[in-house]
Amino acid sequence: MNNPKNLLVEDPIIRKVYEIYGPLIKPRQPVRNPEEIIKRLKNEYRLVVKPYIVYLTVAAFLNNRPVLYEGPPGTGKTEIGEAILTLWAGKTAFVLPCSENYDEYRVIGDFHPAMAMAKGFNEESFIPRPLLAALILDTGVLIDEIRRSNEDFQNMLLDIIDKRRIIVPELKKVYYQRGIGFQIIFTSNPLDIAQSDLSEAFLRRVIRIEFKYPSMEEEYEIVKLRLGNLIDRIPGKMVKTALEIVRILRKKAVYKPGTADLVSWLTITAILAEQKNREATINELIEAARATLIKNPEDEEVVLEAVESAG
Ligand SMILES: Nc1ncnc2c1ncn2[C@@H]1O[C@H](COP(=O)(O)OP(=O)(O)OP(=O)(O)O)[C@@H](O)[C@H]1O
Ligand SMILES: [Mg+2]
Repeated sequence: MNNPKNLLVEDPIIRKVYEIYGPLIKPRQPVRNPEEIIKRLKNEYRLVVKPYIVYLTVAAFLNNRPVLYEGPPGTGKTEIGEAILTLWAGKTAFVLPCSENYDEYRVIGDFHPAMAMAKGFNEESFIPRPLLAALILDTGVLIDEIRRSNEDFQNMLLDIIDKRRIIVPELKKVYYQRGIGFQIIFTSNPLDIAQSDLSEAFLRRVIRIEFKYPSMEEEYEIVKLRLGNLIDRIPGKMVKTALEIVRILRKKAVYKPGTADLVSWLTITAILAEQKNREATINELIEAARATLIKNPEDEEVVLEAVESAG
């Protein structure tokens, strides 16, 4: 990405951000019309997204509010969030995968230890991190699996979200949002075990958008889009059966297969068949099911029963 013309007179941190993160950001034409976004998601990103998700997300962005995508695993939250942020800003979005020990040093900035010892905690030893970089570059940030982070981290984010600015106290500096490209999408899976509750203060600020499993028709479309030519290796009837089986497993199994699991199940089935240079049989379907759908020993029986009865 080209540096701004006035870079020389700008702050050294801004210069560093452009040097470090600029090359990672691919500029493109921003797309802000919901219908156009839906089209691009499908044609460019191979994502079939329910219109309400796009309309609500765009409404939140126009209102400069962050969005929370909540829903079961493998329903496209991360991929869809990243793609919408990229289309909206017209620049590659940043993705921050949360963990329990995430803090401001990991997302805003840190000091190079040796350099800080030698030269002090100053602009020279400061290393900008992705959230600060996104604010300066005016691009989107996906904060993935927010429930895995700790409460202090969430409170720190609230302050940034409310005021749309980032303070770096050690440098006595404040950086402000520069345009509407800087938007935030959080993702979360409330059903995941060992995940913390989000505070009321946090939930009050976000526009919460619930993700659900796609309908049969939508999921069939996703499978076709994702498998491409590989779909020809699987008899049409078998694809339909697989769609029905995941619906049974979403009711009965401990590990509920998401669309992501369905796609990998059928992709592996098709590749196994391709390796044998023929159409997939029930054997490949079962072999691939074992490898992609059983994430929990308790589910072995229910998965195999569902798939074998389809033969
Ligand atoms: N709506 C969709 N359109 C196209 N592909 C989809 C869709 N939903 C899920 N997928 C499939 O799932 C994958 C993306 O799942 P992703 O990791 O984004 O889901 P997630 O909801 O973030 O899951 P998790 O909760 O496990 O993080 C895609 O690579 C694709 O195979
Ligand atoms: Mg995800």
